[in-house]
Amino acid sequence: MPYQDFKDPATAQAWDADNRSYNPARMEQLDMLITLIAAAYQPGKAILDLGIGTGLVEELLFHRVPEAFVVGVDASPAMLARAQQRLQPYAAQYVALEHDLTAINSLQLPGHAYAFVFSVQTLHHLTDEQMQTAYRFIYDTLEPGGLFLLLDRIAVEKAGLYDCYQHLWARQDRLHDSHVAVNEGATFSDHQRIVAERGDLPLGLERHLQLLTAAGFEAACLNLQTNRALVAGRKQKETA
Ligand SMILES: C[S@@+](CC[C@H](N)C(=O)[O-])C[C@H]1O[C@@H](n2cnc3c(N)ncnc32)[C@H](O)[C@@H]1O
Repeated sequence: MPYQDFKDPATAQAWDADNRSYNPARMEQLDMLITLIAAAYQPGKAILDLGIGTGLVEELLFHRVPEAFVVGVDASPAMLARAQQRLQPYAAQYVALEHDLTAINSLQLPGHAYAFVFSVQTLHHLTDEQMQTAYRFIYDTLEPGGLFLLLDRIAVEKAGLYDCYQHLWARQDRLHDSHVAVNEGATFSDHQRIVAERGDLPLGLERHLQLLTAAGFEAACLNLQTNRALVAGRKQKETA
């Protein structure tokens, strides 16, 4: 896949048309993420989505949690325009902010009690240093006891295990009629080149957990399918 410029309306349209064939785990992991929010959401609280895109996740979320309120951030006017169309029936339930997450510290959020922050397939566009800043921002934004959920691509780091990834991607392709094995690259060096050409900067799983812990979270990976992870971070409750 070539460089993904989400500000390009053609890329926004392509993402809307097909956001599964590159990632057959997406719908199951999204269902897990929404399950975790649905289990604990309290009306009146806010949910922050870093990378709302075209509103696909919110459409699923509002279906399962009809009273949910979301503040969604994205840098792409083309993606946000599509979100506005998609989420018309839920116009009172979300606020969209155009902002570049590489400068997250200048993001001015509306004043709410944020019980959840989540990010789906977005933060892998940030460098390691920007991720450190983002995790601190997320920690500071959440109310005590709040939950951060990351669903994202993580780095494939072990060249000696690349054949195992390939076999499991080929299995996914067999089950889901997808093309992951080819799209991710036949060899480890092909894979690294493809990831770089796409403009992705995924961190390894251990690094995510390390950075989340350093930001103050209690952190764990809840689900991992090859290089797609659902990671959770809990901000501690206030102690009396
Ligand atoms: C693959 S899409 C995912 C959208 C949505 N979370 C979903 O799962 O359907 C990635 C999104 O991240 C946004 N994005 C990428 N880099 C960004 C940045 N630096 N700041 C804000 N948004 C960014 C893109 O505009 C795009 O909407």
